Amino acid sequence: MIDLRSIRYVRIGTPDLGEATNFATKVLGLEAAGRERGMAYFRSDDERDHTICYVEGDPAQHATAFEVSENADLQAIAGEIERAGYPVHAGTAAEREARRVLDYISFVDPSGNPMEIVWRAQAGNRRYFPARDAGITGFSHIGLRTTDARRDEAFWTRVFNARPSDWIGEAPLLRINEVHHTIALFPSTYAGVQHINHQVETIDDVMRSWYLLREQRGIRIVFGPGRHASSGAVFLYFEALDGMIYEYSSGVMIIDDEASYVPRQFPFTAESFCMWGSKPDIVEFRKSDPEALPTL
Ligand SMILES: [Fe+2]
Repeated sequence: MIDLRSIRYVRIGTPDLGEATNFATKVLGLEAAGRERGMAYFRSDDERDHTICYVEGDPAQHATAFEVSENADLQAIAGEIERAGYPVHAGTAAEREARRVLDYISFVDPSGNPMEIVWRAQAGNRRYFPARDAGITGFSHIGLRTTDARRDEAFWTRVFNARPSDWIGEAPLLRINEVHHTIALFPSTYAGVQHINHQVETIDDVMRSWYLLREQRGIRIVFGPGRHASSGAVFLYFEALDGMIYEYSSGVMIIDDEASYVPRQFPFTAESFCMWGSKPDIVEFRKSDPEALPTL
């Protein structure tokens, strides 16, 4: 079993790096961390060199990277993934440099989502100082589209150390460390990153962004403010650059006692996504629940 330590970064295609930079700094609240060879890098905390890289190209191209221990053997990991039936690509020197890691491998998950496993990724060497004070404490999780949630849950939990913290209908919220979820799989008809989450410090940051984004930045809020029944986090989702959904949340559950935690099965209803009554205007959160359709 492959032990993923944490999520590291996401790489996303965009047709316009200037617009992406504007969004990442002035709207989302990240710190620019370099722009070179058609790539723009952004930081979200003190520890990591970068956590989002926008790559000039097709906005449907997404790759998510996970970090393994410095003691891990990438070749052995590649062998395990290949034995599970998924071809692995070993990063070239140019590809490693573009990711600012000493080594990495990539593969495609059963739904078709490009994944990367990085070894000794560059650390941040100065404190995080964002262009906008959104209260971000770090890139925290991704929602991933799955074309078969049970198959993909089996992949992540048998080949990797992921384990379910909860399910909402068929959608598993998977953890790879003490954070309630790092990968959330949402049923869809195609692959891709479904949302990108950044944790913010407090509920005040969530609410400040709610006012600022919709009133001053003209951003489409698609869900919230609300509180997830599963992780307990207070959240806000908005649709922005190239149609991607970004989430701020605060107060995600930390599972300290791994041995005693029992995952819960929530029904696929709006109330499971938001215990305050906010209705998601996000297709993957309402697909099998017509009652949850927004009344707008
Ligand atoms: Fe989320």
